[in-house]
Amino acid sequence: MRIIIEPDYQALSKKAAQIVAQRIKRKPNIVLGLATGLTPLGMYRELVRMHKEEGLDFSKVTTFNLDEYWKIPSSHPQSYHFFMWDNLFSHININPERVYIPSGTVDEVEVYCQWYEEEIRRAGGIDLQILGIGRDGHIGFNEPGSSLSSRTRVKSIAPETIEDNARFFKDKSQVPRYAITMGVGTIMEAKECVLLASGESKAEAIRKCVEGPICAECPASILQLHPRVIVILDEEASQRLNKKEYYRYVEEMSLNLRKG
Ligand code: PGA
Repeated sequence: MRIIIEPDYQALSKKAAQIVAQRIKRKPNIVLGLATGLTPLGMYRELVRMHKEEGLDFSKVTTFNLDEYWKIPSSHPQSYHFFMWDNLFSHININPERVYIPSGTVDEVEVYCQWYEEEIRRAGGIDLQILGIGRDGHIGFNEPGSSLSSRTRVKSIAPETIEDNARFFKDKSQVPRYAITMGVGTIMEAKECVLLASGESKAEAIRKCVEGPICAECPASILQLHPRVIVILDEEASQRLNKKEYYRYVEEMSLNLRKG
């Protein structure tokens, strides 16, 4: 795991956007896995700026979103469809036919989930997966106890996550109890992952993810087994890491090595 600690949320967002932009330039028909939530918002804003001011080209990019609330229509203002179009897709030159977001309203959900997995495979697999992390260590909606080899499916949302997401709804009772989500196994097949975390509320989940044992209690901890993961944190999210200074040292050393 490469751990990058930035001073604040703005710097974290910029760093993440730089990495995404660099990968797009290297491979214009890249397949991106995308996440929703407050954390990647700054990165999306920066990517939109790079598109508008620097001509960052999304025309050949394919995207697969991690998840969607189960049983709310894509037109719902809290749906992840709405979020993605509102915050990113409407502002860049992406081909809508290359945008995949799980549907929260399909009937034959098992067939649909297999189809979603198949589409990822047909696209050549995900080159770069963006991830947030829940306070309970979830990635996507893979809550504690999720199989670490799970695939796309409908999953119940943990009470802690319902609490966290209530701020986006009128009240807690409005928060969906289920989501359709890529599985942990699906995420692990991405060629590279970038996990973002900001703020003190994520510090304990980050400690477990980076330094804890690999266990289903913290699904994000499975990323320790992934060969290419970059974890980008702000100071607050990094504050419980026991080896924080060591990670800074390693990052500096590898930057020096690259500079030659
Ligand atoms: P957040 O959500 O970015 O809104 O904190 C992250 C997540 O639940 O994965």
